[in-house]
Amino acid sequence: MIRVGVLVSGGGTNLQAIIDAVKNGDITNTSLEVVLSNKKDAYALTRAKDNNIAAECVCIKDYETRDEFNRAFIEKIDAYNLDLIVLAGFLVVLPPEFIAKYRNKIINIHPSLIPSFCGNGFYGLRVHEKALERGVKVTGATVHFVDEGTDTGPIIYQKAVEVLPGDTPEILQKRVMEQAEWKILPAAINAIANGEL
Ligand code: GRF
Repeated sequence: MIRVGVLVSGGGTNLQAIIDAVKNGDITNTSLEVVLSNKKDAYALTRAKDNNIAAECVCIKDYETRDEFNRAFIEKIDAYNLDLIVLAGFLVVLPPEFIAKYRNKIINIHPSLIPSFCGNGFYGLRVHEKALERGVKVTGATVHFVDEGTDTGPIIYQKAVEVLPGDTPEILQKRVMEQAEWKILPAAINAIANGEL
């Protein structure tokens, strides 16, 4: 069994996809140990509690300096002795010492086909706004290992999703989640848990 922690800032639909996949056997050999948010009101924390997974919160505003936050964050994660850390909509810049400590053990889901529409400032609806502005006919999602850059780590899986006439950023975001994110993120965890990556 690998010990997995999921870091979130928001609604946690990707977290839900992971929880469902563990329950229905699409992800095996995996124990979801903790969900950690930087926001107390993140609905993802409710999803964790509803599924008897430890729900933790480390808020930047509770600390006087970024260094103090970084230390508390790393201490909290270290306590769970994790084999894999999944970023599922975690909107905090990771401390470099954290990335170094957990090299090749942190993965992220990004809602575009990297290297398109990624990097600094590309998160949430903005990614889909930019894709629509550019007029691409195909977009998608990418799961990748996390390194010191923004969306620059080695790619694990990608899945393409069609852009359709009449799409708004919201409609496209939903299609990318349903058709790509909620599939390739659980698939990557399962592959890592079973030594296939
Ligand atoms: C997703 O679009 C994911 O690709 C991005 O953040 C969003 C998180 O959504 N990294 P949710 O909280 O999983 O619903």
